[in-house]
Amino acid sequence: METPFVYGKLVSGHDFTNRTEELKRLSQNFLSGINTILISPRRWGKSSLVTKAASEVGKQEKNVRFVFLDMFNIRNEGEFYREYSEQTLKATSTKYQDIINYTKKFFRQWIPRISFSPDHFQEFSLGLDWQEVKKQPDEILELPQRIAEMKGWKINICIDEFQNISFFDDSLAFQKRLRSHWQQHKNVAYCLYGSKRHMMIDVFSKQSMPFYLFGDLVLIEKILPEHWVQFIVERFTSTGKSINEAQAGRIAFLAENHPFYVQQLAQSCWLRCDKILTDDLIDIAMETLILQLSLLFQQQIESLSSTQINYLGAVLNGETRLNSKEIIQKYQLGTSANIARIQQALINKEIIDLISGKPEIQDPLFKAWMKKHYFKAHY
Ligand SMILES: Nc1ncnc2c1ncn2[C@@H]1O[C@H](COP(=O)(O)OP(=O)(O)O)[C@@H](O)[C@H]1O
Ligand SMILES: [Mg+2]
Repeated sequence: METPFVYGKLVSGHDFTNRTEELKRLSQNFLSGINTILISPRRWGKSSLVTKAASEVGKQEKNVRFVFLDMFNIRNEGEFYREYSEQTLKATSTKYQDIINYTKKFFRQWIPRISFSPDHFQEFSLGLDWQEVKKQPDEILELPQRIAEMKGWKINICIDEFQNISFFDDSLAFQKRLRSHWQQHKNVAYCLYGSKRHMMIDVFSKQSMPFYLFGDLVLIEKILPEHWVQFIVERFTSTGKSINEAQAGRIAFLAENHPFYVQQLAQSCWLRCDKILTDDLIDIAMETLILQLSLLFQQQIESLSSTQINYLGAVLNGETRLNSKEIIQKYQLGTSANIARIQQALINKEIIDLISGKPEIQDPLFKAWMKKHYFKAHY
């Protein structure tokens, strides 16, 4: 049976809702060769958004091409060059011969041994010693620009989880090198996105950093409740089940408009109802979801220090003056010098984020679990 909600995968077509403004802005940038930096917490829809904008532009403009790279498992410069060149070749070739030609034409210093997989020419490896390449990567870094020039294309290189660059050895020198090449590319633009907000911000908005002012900075938001209501109602209706607007609104509300969780909760409601959704099913679905995740949340809590947990308790209780003596005492947060440290540790673990200076718990289900099951037992 096909279910109408999708989570944990890229969404497109009728599974994708709204983001009209963001799509417009990204498409504009793709078309005009403007670099973009896109930041949001994970599971808010970055990858889906970039993919959708790219596929729309790609359909419209045959001369605009896209290369996708994910840095989630790239740990050093050598691996980066490998991915960068292989994905570029993959996305710009339609047959074996293209790959051979490009490498022949554009690699003078490096003569790769190309091996193709027997079934598919787009699965190939370049057989270079990437640790060696690392010493003189210029040809690799120029490859997209050279191909774009030759073909009369514009190429957009979209790099997911870009903040991982900070973990590389000698990251600053590497970032300098990338920027010095990339800013000279006339036919290639970069869309760099990532979910660790504080790390992305470090890379892109510190004046001392090589990628400072590199491109159009887009902070994507959650999706507004009115769009969710419309979306959820439509998805139910199109599969012959019914839900009213208030109920759809409640689903969005409980999941705090968090794209992944709204879809997951909606799915869980949809599965539970026969034809017409009843109010009590929403609460049952929510509670079941929380229980399903409770093991994970338990582990997450166990990885925190007691002052960090106490701090979360204070945030959950809506305390605002977290630095005040009174709150520090009430929640046993140690010393006031401690507060900044606790905050930073929780940000690094992606548990909280500061929104206009105010700490907010990132995961709405974790929040609900803490409220209902954890702190209830503790305070
Ligand atoms: N525009 C959207 N419309 C509907 N659901 C969305 C949308 N964007 C994201 N989602 C939901 O969020 C989940 C995570 O999206 P994804 O693009 O992988 O986020 P990210 O790359 O930020 O981690 C998707 O599987 C889907 O359930
Ligand atoms: Mg993603």
